[in-house]
Amino acid sequence: MSDDQLKMELPPRPELFDFHGISMTKYVTATWERVQNFKARPDDILIATYPKAGTTWVSYILDLLYFGQTSPDRLTSIPINKRVPYLETTDGYIDTGIDLVENLPTSPRIIKTHLPVQFIPKSFWEQTCKVIYLARNAKDNVVSNFHFGRMIMIRPDPGDWNSYLHKFMAGKVIYGSWYDHVNGWWKKKETYSNLHYMFYEDITEDGARELDKLCSFLGLSPSLEEKKQITDEVQFDNMKHNNMVNYSTSPWMDFNISAFMRKGKVGDWKNHFTVAQNEEFDEDYKRKMKDPTLQFRTEI
Ligand code: A3P
Repeated sequence: MSDDQLKMELPPRPELFDFHGISMTKYVTATWERVQNFKARPDDILIATYPKAGTTWVSYILDLLYFGQTSPDRLTSIPINKRVPYLETTDGYIDTGIDLVENLPTSPRIIKTHLPVQFIPKSFWEQTCKVIYLARNAKDNVVSNFHFGRMIMIRPDPGDWNSYLHKFMAGKVIYGSWYDHVNGWWKKKETYSNLHYMFYEDITEDGARELDKLCSFLGLSPSLEEKKQITDEVQFDNMKHNNMVNYSTSPWMDFNISAFMRKGKVGDWKNHFTVAQNEEFDEDYKRKMKDPTLQFRTEI
């Protein structure tokens, strides 16, 4: 079936439902048993994020680090969602995430997930896999999710901005509470040392520095030239025009509504929040984010 035909046969947007205490849709729960029983390998690398934290950015960085030199062809022929599959997804078009992961020919396998930490298949922990968590400040994260929800037809309709913002604050959005997600993963670092916690704002501020930290975590030592190539390649404008990473091949996304690579900025929230919304959000944020060791920057 061509992408155009698929576009004409879009299913209705899915409902959110409570799934073990987290709001989810059928597109991320349908293969639950298989996901939970997934057999991780010791060299698997898991990238975990709350949606719209910059998952594709870090996925591409990792893909380039591991395969950019040895298999350059895959960069121009295989879309990123097949190179770094999304473990729990089942959208009926790109194969289920779990099938894609199990059929990955690469070593290591680089795998993406948006699951909160308590839902991660236990074999990742048993195999002490390397795990990278990428977090983004709540205000930019909610704005990015709002625009993404408008353009991706296999997510619930976000509604208008004000009602979406309140759903986000209440955790009534896909993958549940942002606050619990970032905190749950932050706490995991205390008991699981093979976890590298990164921030979107830090990569924006100094991509080369963050790449060095990432390489040191992964035990990689690329040449200076290779690192320069990677930091150039993953610049927002380069990724925006790269059809293998900008999701232009997805039949579920309506690019007339919004782009996948939309703005890529820290602080775009200022163009969305009213003064009153900002005050309410800040008050609520203080109540929910009690751990002083986890700090986000909403501007740089
Ligand atoms: P915006 O909607 O704010 O533009 P994910 O990959 O988790 O779905 O996240 C998508 C968000 O990350 C989008 O945010 C996208 O623009 C941003 N992003 C992706 N690649 C980026 C890059 N190279 N530099 C900055 N932001 C990037």
